[in-house]
Amino acid sequence: MRYLAIAAAVMVILAGVIFSTAGKKMMQAGDGAVTEAVLPQPGSAGAVLYKQYCGQCHGLPALDSHTPEEWPRAVERMITNIASSGKQMPNDDERDLIVTYLVRHAKQ
Ligand code: HEC
Repeated sequence: MRYLAIAAAVMVILAGVIFSTAGKKMMQAGDGAVTEAVLPQPGSAGAVLYKQYCGQCHGLPALDSHTPEEWPRAVERMITNIASSGKQMPNDDERDLIVTYLVRHAKQ
């Protein structure tokens, strides 16, 4: 009987740990951000610039959060955000590389 009680207590603790870890993962997914670890072609110029410039104010948005048609406009809007914030601004070439990268891996 005592073993059963101990086993039950262990189960409850384990379930708590698993649940809280899963809860945190769900929150990350919920706000649409991705971690650097899951970025495709992580060594490419586009990925490096995306990490450098687009994570300055919020988490890196999931690449499939926009279609190839939507990404260029979304980035233009962010340029306005960056301009009014004093954060690090990508130059035109860097901007093109970021947009090309996002479009290539966008939602299909
Ligand atoms: C100066 C801070 C800043 C930087 C740097 C920045 N953003 Fe944002 N971003 C914001 C703010 C503020 C919002 C929420 C308000 C809005 O949508 O404008 C946002 C929202 C977003 C959204 C969600 C809204 C939408 O249009 O889907 C996406 C996607 C996004 N940013 C992508 C990017 C990308 C890509 C870059 C890099 C080119 C970037 N951001 C860089 C400030 C920034």
